[in-house]
Amino acid sequence: GSIPVANVQELAETFNGSDDQVPERYLVKEASSKEVIVSGDDSISAIPVIDFSKLLDPRSSSEECGKLASACHNWGFFQLINHGVPCEVVGNLMRDVDEFLKQPLKVKKAFSQQPGSIEGYGQAFVVSEEQKLDWGDMLYLQVQPSESRDLRFWPNHPSSFRRSVDVYSSEVAKLSCRLLEFMAKGVGAEPASLIGVFGGQPLTMRVNYYPPCRQADRVLGLSPHTDPNGLTFLRQKDGDVQGLQIKKDGKWFVVDVLNSAFVINVGDTLEVLSNGKLRSVEHRAVIHPRKERISVAMFQFPCQDLMLSPLPEFMTKGEKVRYGSTTYQDFMTQFFSAKLDGRRHVERLKLE
Ligand code: SIN
Ligand code: FE2
Repeated sequence: GSIPVANVQELAETFNGSDDQVPERYLVKEASSKEVIVSGDDSISAIPVIDFSKLLDPRSSSEECGKLASACHNWGFFQLINHGVPCEVVGNLMRDVDEFLKQPLKVKKAFSQQPGSIEGYGQAFVVSEEQKLDWGDMLYLQVQPSESRDLRFWPNHPSSFRRSVDVYSSEVAKLSCRLLEFMAKGVGAEPASLIGVFGGQPLTMRVNYYPPCRQADRVLGLSPHTDPNGLTFLRQKDGDVQGLQIKKDGKWFVVDVLNSAFVINVGDTLEVLSNGKLRSVEHRAVIHPRKERISVAMFQFPCQDLMLSPLPEFMTKGEKVRYGSTTYQDFMTQFFSAKLDGRRHVERLKLE
């Protein structure tokens, strides 16, 4: 990966138990920041909830498809309920992730990132010795297709870890394909149009560990960014503190994750392919002063030789092409070699 930096879990243990200031490099927000944060009842009603069982039921499918499409256009995010992924599958994954993270640093370091690779345990998007840093650690793995796995980076304790990831990621891969069909349909494109791009294509997983921080209002767990991939599936442990925030109309909306729901968002690739009908929206993770938070993101990628430009199937006759084209490979290389910074990558491709 990038430039190695301190393990934040360990840092947090030092600073939360003392009166010392958190190192300057992590202080990214002014104490008296003027940003507007919308939380509580306002945001529960605002962030769309999509019912997967209604998408499947012929009597309600087209109405729910419409809701899905407008969620993806206006918010770029939705929560998915009744998604059919067994709670045992998710429970096993979350339990094993938890167990892995609880181990001493020395054990976890056996799975550290290696020079030139983005997989493994550590941090990402650190490209200079001066830049500010996020208050969190991550474990990043290539998980599907199974041949692409590099087991050097896969924890073997608890002993069920690898199997839990395997089962969970197969479920997400299935769900992803179904949803992509409904999303295409919802914006008036041929339902199968995205399957050629995403069906059977890579999934990666990122475990995020956000320790508490005494100066929580000054740090960020994950800087504002958009996801470069197609679709992202996020889970956190039921009952954990909230941390995900979405930027809309200049305000940050707190996502109050419903128990058992997936938080799903559109990435840059899908925004470009759909000519902006589905949108990739800026988001970030914030930190709690006293409680840790663990999230697991699963990223659906397109086929690796994709030419990234709007798909004809997504455009009506005479519709203006709103994005320039680039190879997907170049787009990804740029993403992983820069620090996280809002919508910059997708904005660069916009034509107007
Ligand atoms: C992400 O943007 O991938 C993760 C955000 C979160 O942990 O809520
Ligand atoms: Fe993200």
